Amino acid sequence: MSFDYAPFFRDDLPPAAKPWGGFPKYNFVGGNNDADSVPVTALLAALGTAMARDGQQLANYGMESGAQGYLPLRNYIATMLEDRAGMATDPGNILITTGSLQGLDLVNGAMLLPGDTVIVEEVSYGGTLSRLRRCGVGYEAVKVDQGGMCMTHLASVLADLAAKGITSKFIYTIPTVQNPSGTVMSVERRQTMLDLARQYGVPIFEDDCYADLLWEGDRPASIRSMDRGGDHGGQVIYCGTFSKSIAPALRVGYVVADWPVLSRLVPLKTDGGSGALEQMALAEYCPGQFDNHVNELRAVLKTKAEAMSDALEEQFGAAAEFTRPGGGIFIWITLPNVVDTDRLAQIAGAQGVAINPGSEWSADPDSGRHRLRLCFGQASPDNIREGVARLAEICHSEFGVPLRGANVER
Ligand SMILES: Cc1ncc(COP(=O)(O)O)c(C=O)c1O
Repeated sequence: MSFDYAPFFRDDLPPAAKPWGGFPKYNFVGGNNDADSVPVTALLAALGTAMARDGQQLANYGMESGAQGYLPLRNYIATMLEDRAGMATDPGNILITTGSLQGLDLVNGAMLLPGDTVIVEEVSYGGTLSRLRRCGVGYEAVKVDQGGMCMTHLASVLADLAAKGITSKFIYTIPTVQNPSGTVMSVERRQTMLDLARQYGVPIFEDDCYADLLWEGDRPASIRSMDRGGDHGGQVIYCGTFSKSIAPALRVGYVVADWPVLSRLVPLKTDGGSGALEQMALAEYCPGQFDNHVNELRAVLKTKAEAMSDALEEQFGAAAEFTRPGGGIFIWITLPNVVDTDRLAQIAGAQGVAINPGSEWSADPDSGRHRLRLCFGQASPDNIREGVARLAEICHSEFGVPLRGANVER
């Protein structure tokens, strides 16, 4: 009998993990990427070059760049954000983090106390919603339509909170390829959000995780880039990541904020610095190759998005409502009300088809009960087609939706 730790653990821990049992046959969950697109050879060469030059800096925590991360990488991020997001950035205002998830944790850690209020999109990143819950924070959900967060609703939520004497700690938004809705917020809405944030004195937390993966239309200027002029500036905290544009296992993300904010985040990053090798490889690889790489990756993801959209139309017909993605790695789908996607996820998961139920991606879990999110980043087009057909079969046999499952005479 091994020692019983149960009485020693905090009683508010999340459910215990299960040992990893490998990927399911059809893996449509999480934010994994296309394996063949990882630029392995070029990253290896870049790491060799950077190590030959700066390898001895590994003797120091933070190398010779201090607690904010490897300076050549911060210099590249600053240039890249100016070119790609219209955001003039001082490398001194960048903090490299272990994935943007650490960025979320640092901002939450610096700003949130139990009982605080945060404004979120009504459907939002599950990792953010679960974090806010664990912080004991209440969130106000703002409607999302085809253009992202609705500004008339945001205005009324801010006014209602103000009437109650509550100031939201921040407005958390994923404006470009929103997770999970896939929507892209227009520049006009971004400006309105900024105007409202200024009017009510609320910071904006802009999570731009997927902005590099847009293949339909131009990438809009980031909200942070618009936060300049007059007496204004510094009201937007921005976070980004190389997880979606290069590879999630690298665990390299970044927060961009003015020094009054960044100087409060740095002391909370108590891990001795993010891993040096991945920062060195990226700093060497990205300046000459990031743009081409991302263009190629987008083309691969677009093909997969089309394969999944076609398969959904073919297998589910009118039963599955969704918008064909203009970027990103996932599709947000609404099924008829009879389908409980929590149950569907359980049953399909047991049969090798992993899906994210909509409840995990909804501020009000009940409202997501007949929705689901499917990720097409990792699976091949053939695997996507087979997996969606299998999902339709399972859904049909459990819920009678679609009316006829795959392989049944139409
Ligand atoms: C909106 C959003 N923010 C942050 C993250 C975390 O990404 P990272 O791998 O950079 O920690 C994800 C991951 O899927 C995400 O979807």
